[in-house]
Amino acid sequence: MGFERKKIALIGGGQIGQVLAMIASQKELGDIVILDIPAYENPVKGKALDLMEMAPHGDYDANISGTSNYKDIEGADVVIVTAGKPREAGMTREDLLAVNLKIITDVASGVKQYAPKAFCIILTNPLDAMVYAFYKLTGFPRHQVVGMAGALDTARWRAFIAMELGVSVADVAGTVLGGHGPDMVPLPRLTTVGGVPLAEIATKEQIDKLALRTREAGTEIVKLFGKGSAFFSPAWSAATMAESYLKDKKRIIACAALCQGEYGINGLFIGVPCLITAKGLEKIYEIKLTEEENALLQKTIASVKKTTEETKL
Ligand code: APR
Repeated sequence: MGFERKKIALIGGGQIGQVLAMIASQKELGDIVILDIPAYENPVKGKALDLMEMAPHGDYDANISGTSNYKDIEGADVVIVTAGKPREAGMTREDLLAVNLKIITDVASGVKQYAPKAFCIILTNPLDAMVYAFYKLTGFPRHQVVGMAGALDTARWRAFIAMELGVSVADVAGTVLGGHGPDMVPLPRLTTVGGVPLAEIATKEQIDKLALRTREAGTEIVKLFGKGSAFFSPAWSAATMAESYLKDKKRIIACAALCQGEYGINGLFIGVPCLITAKGLEKIYEIKLTEEENALLQKTIASVKKTTEETKL
């Protein structure tokens, strides 16, 4: 009897995976296993060791290890998948579909065999299609599989509003619906700054500009990097989702979740507000949308449907 640490498996130990490992250690979410392909096993072993050596100053206790063997993720409570190719300048997320579908197929088989009870958070792009593929290939129940996109899109929306208005980001509340692409739907009508409706402190031009920047935020960073995509903010977004599950925090976070009738959507993973508890995805909240918002939602649903169908699963 006694306290047993949770186990977090990070599939993919590249840019996002390594930052996730650092955040998960600092938050003391549990022991961490970073899994990557055999050719990258030594680098992830090195990253794990480096993090163990950071612990005395980082003030955390955790066993952090690197591997290329799925056996080592056995019994994981949470699996976070970042395995896959990131974008390069000029690429859309959809350009990654074929190559990343192969990777997700491989990952789904390993996770299904060794961590069949884990709460799984997928980050690989094109996000909505890859989380759908992972769900189909594992056969896991809907409450056990979500995609990380809305948490990041909402963070970007909040950050840009705070930057524009010169206020604390802590006071900006709002959400973004839809797929993880340029037609995602930030909801200015339901966004508040310290309880004040956004529309009362920002002009329509400002709001339109902020919404556009949010929709293009990933691309803005890809352009700056030239090669590779954002990693700090996606990592922390995923850590927030994992933490809500592991600590039963009952956070309401926009996630790519399997809709079964919600918002009139059936059988697609798309960004919607989700209650994340120790049960995993416990509930999807439906927002009553205006006609205009609904029209924007229909557009993003059509894009997600198209990409999802390309998986042929
Ligand atoms: N199994 C495990 N790991 C894999 C596999 C596989 N089959 N294939 C590739 N990887 C690993 C790579 O070796 C690499 O270490 O996935 C890691 C990906 O890391 P990066 O290339 O640095 O990409 P990153 O920026 O972390 O993004 C990962 O998340 O946001 C999305 O679009 C992004 O799809 C991309 C993913």
